[in-house]
Amino acid sequence: MSMKISVVGTGYLGVTHAACMAELGFEVIGVDVDPHKVRMLSEGHLPFHEPGLGELLRTHVESGRLRFTTDYEQIAEWADVHFIGVGTPQRNDGHGADMRYVDAAVIELATRIRGKALIVGKSTVPVGTARRLHGLIAATADPQADITLAWNPEFLREGYAVRDTMTPDRLVLGCEEAGSEAILRQVYARALDAGTPVIVTDFETAELVKVAANAFLATKISFINSFAEITETIGGDITVLADALGHDARIGRKFLNAGVGFGGGCLPKDIRALQARTSELGLTHTMGFLAEVDEINLRRRERVVRLSHAMLQDQLVGARVAVLGVSFKPDSDDVRDSPALDIAVRLFNAGADVLVYDPEGNKNAAERFPRLFYANDLAEAVANADLVLLLTEWAEFKALVPADLEQLVAARRLIDGRNVLSRSQWEEAGWEIVGMGQHYAPLDGQL
Ligand code: UDX
Repeated sequence: MSMKISVVGTGYLGVTHAACMAELGFEVIGVDVDPHKVRMLSEGHLPFHEPGLGELLRTHVESGRLRFTTDYEQIAEWADVHFIGVGTPQRNDGHGADMRYVDAAVIELATRIRGKALIVGKSTVPVGTARRLHGLIAATADPQADITLAWNPEFLREGYAVRDTMTPDRLVLGCEEAGSEAILRQVYARALDAGTPVIVTDFETAELVKVAANAFLATKISFINSFAEITETIGGDITVLADALGHDARIGRKFLNAGVGFGGGCLPKDIRALQARTSELGLTHTMGFLAEVDEINLRRRERVVRLSHAMLQDQLVGARVAVLGVSFKPDSDDVRDSPALDIAVRLFNAGADVLVYDPEGNKNAAERFPRLFYANDLAEAVANADLVLLLTEWAEFKALVPADLEQLVAARRLIDGRNVLSRSQWEEAGWEIVGMGQHYAPLDGQL
C-alpha cells in the first residue's frame, strides 16, 4: 500500500514539498490554518511565483493525489508520515525565531494521532528544538499512540524549489528512533537511487547543518562585499577578484557576487536566529562574526543610496529614479527583506520620485509599500528617468543594452547594483554607469 503523507504548512516550503511528494507517487494532503490559502491551492492556484511549481500543483490537484485542508482531524489518523514545514519567522521582541507555529503544529498532531505515525520536522529551527519537541510529544500524545520524530532540514532555494526538492545536493536525516530512517529512505527512494548523498545523524546535527549552511552562504556574500568596500575606496575590480578567488576549488566562485547584498525569507533571519540561539546557550561570542556579516550586508543598501545622491549631484529631491527589480532575487516574487525594495523605499523617503518595475514582484511590493509608483513594464519605469538603478538581476535586465533605454530616459545615469552589465559598453554609449565595488571619486571618504 502506498504511503500517505501530510504536509503541515503551505508556505513556500510546504507547497513545494507537498507537490513534489505527489509527483513521487504518494497521496498527499497539505494542511494550513489559512482557509483562503487552502481554497486557492485546492483550486490548483499557486499563491506565489515559482518556476515549474504551478504546473506540478495543478497536475496533482487534478489527479486527486494532492489535496489541501484546514482540518487536522482529516490528516492526523490518515497519514503515515507528517512533514512539518511551517514558518519560523523572526520574533518581534528580538532576533530569535518564533517557534509558535512549529509547536502548535506538533501539538495539533500529537493530541490527535491514535496509532502509529512519523512526524518529520523540515522547518529551520534553533538547535535543540527537535529534542524539545520530542518531550512535547511525549507529554501531549495519547498513551496508546506510537509517534516517532525525525528531523530532515530543507535546503531549497527560491527559483529552483522543485529541482532542489526532487534532486537535492544531499539528504540530511536526523533519525534517532527505531524505524524512522527506514521510512524516510522509502520516501526519498528515488533521490537515493539516483545517488544523492545521505547523512544520517542525530537531531542536533541535523538542525545545525541547515543553519550552518545558511550562515556560511551569508558570510561568503558579506566577505566579498567587504572587499567591495575596499575596492570602492582604493580601486580594483571586485568581479575579477571574485573570479580569481573562485579558481581555488577550496573557495569556489559561487556566492561571491558583490552587489546590494542578500535578502529573502531565510538568510537574514537565520543568521540572526543563530546568534540569538548561541547567546541563549551562553556562547555570547561564538557567532559574533555574524553580526558583522549582517552589518556589511546592510551597508550595501546605504552605499546605493549614497551613490544615488552623489550621481544626482545632491539633487535627489524630485528626481525621477527608475528601480529595476524589487524581489530579493530573480525568478522570485518574494520581497521579504529585499535589498532592492529597501533601497527604493529609502530613496522615496529621501524625496525622489521612484518608479519601480519588477517582472513578478510588483504586487507583493505594492502590498507593503503602496506609496511607491509601480510601472507595468520596463519602458514605463525608465521613462524620463534621471537615474536608473538595476537592483535585481532578472534576465530581462541583464540583457539590456544602451539602445534599449537611451531614447526613454532623461539622463544617462545608471547604477548596476548586481554588476551584471558591461560597463565599457554603456560608457561608450555615453552613460555614467557605476557598479558595486567600483571606486567613485565623489564618494571618497564615505563607505
Ligand atoms: C537560501 C539558501 O540558498 C537555501 O539553501 C535555503 O534553503 C534558503 O535560503 P534563497 O533564500 O532562496 O535560499 O536565496 P539564495 O539563492 O541563497 O540567495 C539569497 C540572497 O543572496 C539573494 O538576495 C541573492 O541575491 C543574494 N546573493 C546570492 C548575493 O548577493 N550574491 C551572491 O553571490 C549570491
